[in-house]
Amino acid sequence: MGQQGEAFMAETRTATLTIDGKDYHLPILTPTAGPECLDIRKLYTDAGVFTYDPGYTSTAACDSTITYIDGDAGILLHRGYPIEQLAAKSHFLEVCYLLLYGDLPKAAELEKFENTVTRHTMIHEQIHNFFRGFRRDAHPMATMVGVVGAMSAFYHDSLDINDPRHREIAAFRLIAKMPTIAAMAYKYSIGQPFVYPRNDLDYASNFLHMCFAVPAEPYEVNPTLARALDRIFMLHADHEQNASTSTVRLASSSGANPFACIAAGIACLWGPAHGGANQAALEMLREIGTPDRIPEFIAKVKDKSSNVRLMGFGHRVYKNYDPRAKVMKQSADEVLDLLGIHDNPTLQVAKELERIALEDEYFISRKLYPNVDFYSGIILEAMGFPTSMFTPIFAVARTVGWISQWKEQLADPQHKIGRPRQLYLGPTQRDYVEVEDR
Ligand code: CMC
Repeated sequence: MGQQGEAFMAETRTATLTIDGKDYHLPILTPTAGPECLDIRKLYTDAGVFTYDPGYTSTAACDSTITYIDGDAGILLHRGYPIEQLAAKSHFLEVCYLLLYGDLPKAAELEKFENTVTRHTMIHEQIHNFFRGFRRDAHPMATMVGVVGAMSAFYHDSLDINDPRHREIAAFRLIAKMPTIAAMAYKYSIGQPFVYPRNDLDYASNFLHMCFAVPAEPYEVNPTLARALDRIFMLHADHEQNASTSTVRLASSSGANPFACIAAGIACLWGPAHGGANQAALEMLREIGTPDRIPEFIAKVKDKSSNVRLMGFGHRVYKNYDPRAKVMKQSADEVLDLLGIHDNPTLQVAKELERIALEDEYFISRKLYPNVDFYSGIILEAMGFPTSMFTPIFAVARTVGWISQWKEQLADPQHKIGRPRQLYLGPTQRDYVEVEDR
């Protein structure tokens, strides 16, 4: 139970569950926003039953004060602030501060925070050896899982999870170094030399510079592209208890160190149902190729035996347009315009695919709308990133969300190891049979 725990304790309403004629009273917990929760923590002790909820479709695994999503209304708030306002008026490092500390910073606080993060961008020189151990054709996410996990071996002064100062330093390090690691994974994969961070550049510009500069000539960061990338970072910064964040929390619940926990989050994010969807969405749009091939593709998606999904569509929580996708779609138009890319065939396919899907009974009845990944790949591709870098960029942005949730979890004096139970359907006890008798 976290910061709102005392409010929960004051709650007196209960729901009654009757099993075999016996009543069990479950406290009803009232959040500041969103559906009420039945407190089942004593259910097993009192009634000897578990609840069954694979995929956690109806289960709150923690309480949190960081991010709120109203999936029916298509609302996303960070510490109460709507994502649209943050995307329009804020910038990524300010959103990082907001997520980590709970409030928007005053000017001096922001300056200090930005200065601190900026001064942690370099990685230990010996970590370079880790990159060189990978094959050049390794997916950058594979490299990132390994390198971020390996950070535990280098930063011993930020491994004590019981020390709030260690936790804070680990947070700075991870937010600051993740762009460096992602950019190095990219440079390694294309056989170019690593480009060291430049602390005179803002967060997004520095990342673009580390990815696209080469020692042979100067590289000028386009400020409009940097602003667009910064917005992409903001839109991905946190998303309450999604799969990778829950993975970080579960890993952390055993007392694992922050770098190991974030490596676990990166591993989870990689999957195509989660962060890997941005890569999969762009590959899908390219494969469709032209708007006239959309009906054929939609027919395949609707045919359950094909196992084809419309990538970048659908969401566990949003049963409405993902508010991040709205900003992303607008951003795609702006970036392509700026780069003088008119009539981009992928964007045309995306827009037509969205239009057709949103009029189709299959998608309407299942409340499937574009999510954040539907348009982000088009922007990243226009910036010059290969598809394999899309999910690493998501990981760079989500690091602050993971770390904020991790800090919140550890600051809760009552946090426990995460240990789900199961509905066992295997054989009951039986005797071992000697091999010759089987
Ligand atoms: N294309 C076609 N059908 C879909 C899709 C889709 N993208 N998403 C869900 N459905 C159907 C699904 O087949 C099911 O139909 P039926 O009731 O006939 O069996 C129904 O909609 C409900 O789907 P579900 O799999 O029970 O929903 P879920 O909440 O478990 O899955 C999801 C959510 C995001 C994994 C899923 O919508 C999906 O696979 N989308 C494509 C991948 C994607 O874009 N992921 C990025 C999510 S947003 C960014 C992030 O979190 O990383």
